[in-house]
Amino acid sequence: MNIQRFTDGRALSQDLARRILAAIDRQPGLVLGLPTGRTPLPLYAALREQTPPAGTDWSAVRTFNLDEFVGLGASDQESYRAYMERELFAAVGVDPTHVGFLDGRAADPDAECGRYEEAIAAAGGIDLMILGIGANGHIGFNEPAPGLHARTHRARLQPGTRAANAALFGGDISRVPDEALSMGMATILRARSVILMATGAGKAAAVDAMIRGPITTMLPASFLQLHPDVTVMVDLAASPR
Ligand code: GLP
Repeated sequence: MNIQRFTDGRALSQDLARRILAAIDRQPGLVLGLPTGRTPLPLYAALREQTPPAGTDWSAVRTFNLDEFVGLGASDQESYRAYMERELFAAVGVDPTHVGFLDGRAADPDAECGRYEEAIAAAGGIDLMILGIGANGHIGFNEPAPGLHARTHRARLQPGTRAANAALFGGDISRVPDEALSMGMATILRARSVILMATGAGKAAAVDAMIRGPITTMLPASFLQLHPDVTVMVDLAASPR
């Protein structure tokens, strides 16, 4: 893994935004995998700032987000879909028909997961997957467990992960759904290139174990050691020893 250290989340985000925009300039039909959470908020702000009206053209970019809460859809303000509209899609001009998203309100969640895998394949696969990491080493909603799912699936969220997501729900953990739909580990590992971003001291132990520890389902991010093109961007607080 290629580890890159930055003084803070803002410097990290500015650099990553420049990298993403350069990738789109080189390949206008780039297929991006995208995360939610607090970590990428400064990245999305930097992308909004660095995409002036005559700047990078996002109209051919296609996106696939990692995950969505079961029971929530585009019209729910707490959904990851609404978060992405607010933080990125509308401001930079992603074509709504190019947005790939799991529908947490789908009547048949298993069928929805299968549809998502097919949509990613039909787009030619993900070129660049941007990831955050949970303090317990989860990516997307692939939580530590004795076994992991390879493909997009329905996932049960651990209490700590629900607490980490409570900010979207006015700080009320009881309102955070206890299930989500998430890309699986193989879905993520099939991306051609992966960049994981981590900021803050709360992520340091997970980042260290992801890089140095054994590959284990109890720390799902450790599976990224198997991928040939992973960059880990950290601020000093999240930096591995
Ligand atoms: C959530 C998301 C993950 C994200 C993680 C970290 O559970 N499903 O994709 O990486 O939490 O979130 P944060 O960046 O807020 O710490």
